[in-house]
Amino acid sequence: MTNERKAPVYTHGYKNPAFAGLNERSAQSHANWLLPHLKPGMRVLDAGPGPGTITLGIAEAVAPGKVTGVEIGQPYVELANSAALEAGIANVEFLQGDALHLDYDDSTFDVVFSFAVLEHIPNPIQALKEWHRVLKSGGIIAVGSSAVSWHAYPPQSPLGGEGLDFYMKVWEQNGGHPDMAKTQPQLVRQAGFSDIEIGGFYVSSDPAQQAATWPDRIREPDFVRQAVDSGFATAEKIETIAQDIEAWADNPDAWYLLAWFWALGRKP
Ligand SMILES: C[S@@+](CC[C@H](N)C(=O)[O-])C[C@H]1O[C@@H](n2cnc3c(N)ncnc32)[C@H](O)[C@@H]1O
Repeated sequence: MTNERKAPVYTHGYKNPAFAGLNERSAQSHANWLLPHLKPGMRVLDAGPGPGTITLGIAEAVAPGKVTGVEIGQPYVELANSAALEAGIANVEFLQGDALHLDYDDSTFDVVFSFAVLEHIPNPIQALKEWHRVLKSGGIIAVGSSAVSWHAYPPQSPLGGEGLDFYMKVWEQNGGHPDMAKTQPQLVRQAGFSDIEIGGFYVSSDPAQQAATWPDRIREPDFVRQAVDSGFATAEKIETIAQDIEAWADNPDAWYLLAWFWALGRKP
């Protein structure tokens, strides 16, 4: 499933993938809005499964149906396949590939699920149309994404407000959409889906986990170069914010709630 097209930049990166916070996700915690729609025997695509922790729960729900995760980042493909092996879940496979250009025939899947991926894709409607193509008639699209400006940080955090504005600008420059959830339902409709339902939820995240992730991400030399060259921040400002995040996580009153929004629809 390789191709000659230029892959989009994944701003969060693959450094230390096992510790990026994604491995705390499960189908119960992040996709319980989809679970009632899953039935044994369904054929499911997970577009951009990352380390596959949500995918494994989906695989259990549709067994003996088969679940395929198509993931662009090779480090995650390896992690996800190892996790499936370790958990003894045999009806799931993780393949390296670009979920915008799938090697599957039209009308292959009963469900296409994709969580926290549209915000990293330059043209999300192109992705939704591709997923529409590979769904059977009556099949379910199930997408979840975030809106960074709707996250909550009581009482306050360098992760919110203008603290990480330079990160969001780099993310947008790389073709991403930090506030993806705000347009997600309309894009699902524009891609041709009907019977759309939407919802959302907050997930509390350990500040220590955030402090173990964000400073590394923003100190990454390629990231600093891009932010500085583009005039989004100085290297000094980035270092100050990195240190502020580490100090914030030591505060017993630090909280971090991530805002997630989902949209479910059907291919007519
Ligand atoms: C924030 S992670 C979410 C992973 C997983 N869905 C979860 O919620 O735990 C986004 C994932 O999308 C993958 N990704 C980004 N663009 C992709 C593409 N065009 N095709 C396949 N995967 C892609 C990234 O490599 C990354 O693993």
